[in-house]
Amino acid sequence: MRLKIIIGNWKMNKTGPEAMELARGLIGTVGKTDRPRVVLCPPFTALGDVAKLIKGSSIFLGAQNMYSKESGAYTGEIAPAMLLTIGVSYVILGHSERREYFSESDVIVNDKVKLAIKTGLIPIVCVGEKLEERDAGLSEEFIGRQIDGSLGDLTEEELKKVVIAYEPVWAIGTGRTATPEMAQEIHIFIRNRLGKRYGDIAAGTISILYGGSVNGGNAAGLLSQPDIDGALVGGASLKIDEFTKIVSSI
Ligand code: 13P
Repeated sequence: MRLKIIIGNWKMNKTGPEAMELARGLIGTVGKTDRPRVVLCPPFTALGDVAKLIKGSSIFLGAQNMYSKESGAYTGEIAPAMLLTIGVSYVILGHSERREYFSESDVIVNDKVKLAIKTGLIPIVCVGEKLEERDAGLSEEFIGRQIDGSLGDLTEEELKKVVIAYEPVWAIGTGRTATPEMAQEIHIFIRNRLGKRYGDIAAGTISILYGGSVNGGNAAGLLSQPDIDGALVGGASLKIDEFTKIVSSI
């Protein structure tokens, strides 16, 4: 059985006190849920406080990014060990917003993935095509390249520690979600791609999440697909009712 995971990516939202309020609310609704696993990814500035709040609950903590070096003169960056020691378990890597606005390439993402695993963090590796690629019928070719490049030369043992998130860029923050069938088709494609490289057992154990305008209304349809193992949620993760509904849709 693959692990089912619902992740809230709060992106660049919520000051410290606002983050505490949201986390407190979610502890009240999903703080005892262990199937699916619930992961909250607040901004860096709120991680320490949210870590203390969720202690004793079933909720896991994730970061939205990290740097690809262990320590050193990299002003403004955050090392994975800094995250691990405050109680972070997961880290989102290669999100399309990082790729688009901060020029993160597959090579950079791969460096981060390797260091995250070495440090003991679970990387959530994001891939997804833009509308122009989908319209040109190039979704699979594009996603295949992102998967190969972002995972690079990981061993089978390393791959088993990775979570993948398929987030079509055209569905992020647009209210335009992929249909369950469209998403399932890409998830199968990703699983087969992993299967070719790493074998069926490794590919079969990897959780592949869908992201892009997931909300309380469309979650159940998406999550009922056999290869959709959870969701990476942006906007709706900032609303207690919506996020709670998504978590209870599995
Ligand atoms: P939305 O749910 O707001 O579309 O964002 C998806 C996302 O980018 C999660 O990482």
